[in-house]
Amino acid sequence: MGAKIILITGVTRGLGRAMAEEFIRLGHTVIGCGRSETGIVELQTKFQPPHDFDIVDVADDRAVGAWAREVLGKHTAPDLLLNNAALINRSAPLWEVPAEEFSEVIAVNIEGAVNVIRHFLPAMLKRGSGVIVNFSSGWGRSTDANVAPYCATKWAIEGLTQALAQELPPGMAAVPLNPGIIATDILRSSFGVSASGYPPPERWAKTAVPFLLKISASDNGKSLTAPS
Ligand SMILES: NC(=O)c1ccc[n+]([C@@H]2O[C@H](COP(=O)([O-])OP(=O)(O)OC[C@H]3O[C@@H](n4cnc5c(N)ncnc54)[C@H](OP(=O)(O)O)[C@@H]3O)[C@@H](O)[C@H]2O)c1
Repeated sequence: MGAKIILITGVTRGLGRAMAEEFIRLGHTVIGCGRSETGIVELQTKFQPPHDFDIVDVADDRAVGAWAREVLGKHTAPDLLLNNAALINRSAPLWEVPAEEFSEVIAVNIEGAVNVIRHFLPAMLKRGSGVIVNFSSGWGRSTDANVAPYCATKWAIEGLTQALAQELPPGMAAVPLNPGIIATDILRSSFGVSASGYPPPERWAKTAVPFLLKISASDNGKSLTAPS
């Protein structure tokens, strides 16, 4: 398999960071973003060009547009675009979630993914190939108390990805992916100490990355789940 250009949002921690490390280990080029300066500088120091890491808030459409212009000036269009960045609300019944917090979860988890698609997909369309994976969740297909805002965003990801899949030309794919249950900050926020009973992101990435590399045009529109 030839080296691919992999674009990952939310590379500073959790699944994004573990995927970046594993894709690079397998010989692929990773382009990634996150908000944390420390996290991005650490990646820039560890991985030299052509790997490319920038501080970008995916909720900021203008910042994503500027990032896309910079990235597409240096690299070919992504072969695999992973909309991984997300936030979860602090566990609380829906009526107790402050308006600002609800808006932030929507802005990152839904609008952030769409901002990235808006600015990177045209280059992929021009080339006529590429796969978009929008990170969903078990909570994009079921629900629980105290995570209603997060559930709303992941159900939205399922819907918008299915619609996008219907818009893509043959040869391309868009899929929602439930990554499974992995011990990251998002899980610790909702599961508390029991999160430590789940696999760490580094172990998850060993099976998830080969699975992601195999997604092809024939998967367009399928709701996928990463192997556990
Ligand atoms: N862990 C699980 O069990 C699980 C289960 C189901 C679904 N998921 C999904 O898997 C994906 C990864 O989650 P995770 O568990 O790895 O969470 P995590 O450890 O909390 O990591 C989230 C990542 O997203 C980045 N991020 C957050 N807001 C951002 C923004 N506005 N712009 C750019 N980057 C941003 C964070 O970096 P900065 O703070 O530096 O911005 C961080 O790198 C998410 O879509 C999540 O919903 C996870």
